[in-house]
Parts: sequence; C-alpha cells; structure tokens
Amino acid sequence: MEKREQMYEGKAKKVFATDNENYCIVSYKDDATAFNGLKKGTIAGKGVVNNRMSNYLMQLLEKQGIPTHFVEELNDRETVVKKVKIVPLEVIVRNTAAGSFSKRFGVAEGTKLLCPTLEFCYKDDDLGDPMVNDYHIIACGWATKEDLDTITDYTFKINSFLVDFFKKINVDLIDFKIEFGKTSDGQIILADEISPDTCRFWDATTHEKLDKDRFRRDMGSVEEAYQEMMKRIFG
Ligand code: TMP
Repeated sequence: MEKREQMYEGKAKKVFATDNENYCIVSYKDDATAFNGLKKGTIAGKGVVNNRMSNYLMQLLEKQGIPTHFVEELNDRETVVKKVKIVPLEVIVRNTAAGSFSKRFGVAEGTKLLCPTLEFCYKDDDLGDPMVNDYHIIACGWATKEDLDTITDYTFKINSFLVDFFKKINVDLIDFKIEFGKTSDGQIILADEISPDTCRFWDATTHEKLDKDRFRRDMGSVEEAYQEMMKRIFG
C-alpha cells in the first residue's frame, strides 16, 4: 500500500490517500482537544494507544459480526482503513450517568442507568454538535430510516460486547461515542476509533477515571491513564 497525499487533518488524526481508491491511511496524533477545540494540549503516546486499542477492538467486533473500517495496522500510529463517507452523527451510548448527561438531566455522575441509552448528535463544530432525534436525522437527510435502524442495531451489539470485554479487565464502560461510515457500495460500517478519547473508562473497584476526562478536567496523570488501559488490554 502506497501512502499518498494528505486528504484531511482532524483534531486527533490525519487521513491520507493511498494508491487504492477504496482505502485510506489514518495516522493518530498525540494532540488532544476538548470543548470543541477550546482547550488544546498534547498527551504523549496517546496516538499509539488509540491506534492499537481501536484496531484490536475493531477486529474483535468483526468476529461478532459488526462490519468495521479496519483493514491493516501498518505501525504504532498508522492503519489502513476502508474509505467511507462518514454519517454525520456522533452515536453515544451510556450505561452510567456522566458528563453532559449528568449536567443536562441533573443525574449524579456514577448513577447506573436502568438500561443502556442511545443519543445522536449532529456532527457540526459550528453548531456545537447538537443532540438530535431520529426524526431530525431522517428529515434532514443525514441518514435514512434504514441506515439508522442498522446503526442502532450495531450500536447496542457493540455496547454489549464492549461492556463484557472491559469488565474482564476490571473496567466499567460508563459511556462512549462511535461513528459510522458508508462505503461506496452502500454498506454501513463502524469507522473512526474506540479509545480513551472516545470512551469513559472507570476502574471497576476504585472508580478511578482511565480516560480523556483526566485531560478535560485537569485531573493529572493523563498519560498514565492511557498507558494503564493499554497495559490492561495487551498485558
Ligand atoms: P458527553 O458526556 O460529554 O456527552 O460525552 C459522552 C461520551 O462521548 C464520552 O465517552 C466522551 C465521548 N465524546 C467524544 O468522543 N467526543 C466528543 O466530542 C465529546 C463531547 C464526547
């Protein structure tokens, strides 16, 4: 696979074209932002953790019947993925109240939810990624009813699998955000990443935060938290 021109640079990743029109190469950076880019920083080694963790989890999810963009890990920070058109939605699953859910609804962080909940946010930085419902999404054409049903079905399956996976390494999966893309032949697949940037991980015993909230909230030991997650997954 030949790496060609940079197609896009996001807050945490760069995307490069390749000599195969169906594939791209993503390159994970150590750059970290929060609050829609207002807070900026670096988390040393984050790109390596996010690349390796995402790739590992996507391969496990494939075995569970969830199609993903993963093709091949090239090195610590770079991975070949299927080229997709991203569905402009942040798909958020919550098992325990935290973050914006706690703030919006006045439910204390750490309150176990009676069932997993699903939220969609429309991906638009200028609008601050507003929360939207199924009707908004279909009416605005961000996804069809059929695609949304597929996304919803995959998302709850992904949640069940990930909750069990993290439980085995004594981590509670509090909530997470995923994104889906559509391939040129119209297939909906899991894209983007699954990492401490996009999930809330709490140690199941101590409830210590092992994710990007340590950066968002200036809690310190940010790098250590990412490395701890890496150690628990890969030994
Ligand atoms: P929230 O409680 O701030 O809405 O975040 C819910 C989950 O989504 C949490 O696991 C962090 C993740 N997330 C992202 O991946 N990207 C974002 O821009 C935000 C705001 C949250």
